[in-house]
Amino acid sequence: MPSARNVSAPGLLLTLPQLSEAWLTRVDAVSRALLGVSDLRGPKLAAALARVSHAYTEERAGLGELRGDDDALCARLKFFSQRDLLKVHGPLAELHALRALPPTAAWRVLDLGAGLGATSLGVARFAALTGTAERLQVTAVDVDPEALAIYRELARDVSTLPGVPIELREVTADLRQPLASLTTKLSAPYDMIVLGLALNELRTHELSEDATADTAAEYLRSLAELLAPGGVLLVLEPALRETSRFLHAVRDRLAARAAAPYVFAPCTRSASCPMLARERDYCHERVPHPLPPRLAELAQQAGLRESDLTYSYLTLHASPRSLRELQAGQTGALYRAVSAPLPSKGKLELWLCGETGAPRAMRLDRHESAANAALAEAGRGAVVNIPAVQPTALGGNNIPAVQPQLPAERLRIGAGTRIELPLRWKREG
Ligand SMILES: C[S@@+](CC[C@H](N)C(=O)[O-])C[C@H]1O[C@@H](n2cnc3c(N)ncnc32)[C@H](O)[C@@H]1O
Repeated sequence: MPSARNVSAPGLLLTLPQLSEAWLTRVDAVSRALLGVSDLRGPKLAAALARVSHAYTEERAGLGELRGDDDALCARLKFFSQRDLLKVHGPLAELHALRALPPTAAWRVLDLGAGLGATSLGVARFAALTGTAERLQVTAVDVDPEALAIYRELARDVSTLPGVPIELREVTADLRQPLASLTTKLSAPYDMIVLGLALNELRTHELSEDATADTAAEYLRSLAELLAPGGVLLVLEPALRETSRFLHAVRDRLAARAAAPYVFAPCTRSASCPMLARERDYCHERVPHPLPPRLAELAQQAGLRESDLTYSYLTLHASPRSLRELQAGQTGALYRAVSAPLPSKGKLELWLCGETGAPRAMRLDRHESAANAALAEAGRGAVVNIPAVQPTALGGNNIPAVQPQLPAERLRIGAGTRIELPLRWKREG
């Protein structure tokens, strides 16, 4: 039986660190040493940032063209990689809260589409912050040797991040090749496999969407065979509608199999994803987190508006573990917030997703109380527990039905309805 932690107020705290100024200084030094004339600053750096941002968000089909472009590499090193480094903290913190992280002191990590190493550097940062691992042995795979050379230099000394030491092995390879041709270059088993903002870049756009999702799900399933017992596979994707919905479709295919790898998060729901029913819907995370002043200034110069940490993710586990364990032994329903709180005249609404469907929680302002105050604090992606929702019977598709007075489409939050946020972010320091 997994070592579940029950939901209880005020909830488990997930710590979100800041990037240290010393680390950003080191990043600048690496840029100077490795990029020569393309070590950009000032308006040239801002222009490169704007160009890369446009490629990431508007012209994703042309992302391959950034390869071999040293100005773009500098923008990735000095801004995007540093901004993205903290994104892996959310998925890792959830695993940590449920004691579902790999049990070894040295994590063997396979970082696919590693680029400049943002995701596994983030793992090193997390391990140092939480004491969950003493060091990492990272195999970093990317098609771009220039990016891997920068990662090598960064990984040489991560003490200022501060992160646990990284022993790095780079593998330059095209991940579109059959996995079997890559496995000979790897050293499985791995405790952790990460795909940071890379799965969507491996998609072929010649196939139908269904076929592409089938292929990606099969790819993740085969990758999970490289996991050690208790290992985890983390997929982070950009918080864009297209890439997020693609991840939901992949998740549905894996969730439908009662076999490893098991969907651990973000879903508190075991049945198919309700976001896929309507073209416009998608589920993603938004963790409010101000950029360090140096990166905020760069973002402003480049005209980038986004400063929160935004991403979509899928956490798969080698063992049958799930975020639903947060609720072990408790009654009620556990949801993921799939919108921000939406205030309007006389009421506050929040779209949720859980075993009972994708209801819209609605609280009239006159029913605001200490018991339900947390509704206003549940940002997009928050895990929300509502003890008053009593699953009474298993409906079709294993979806528990809810009490008739709380219809699945709309959850009326009364003055006495308790709202709990079992996982909360806390700033470091
Ligand atoms: C958006 S970057 C993400 C880098 C890093 N994982 C992160 O979290 O910031 C995507 C990476 O995937 C790599 N990539 C794209 N297509 C690839 C392929 N077919 N084989 C191997 N790597 C690939 C790119 O070179 C790039 O470094």
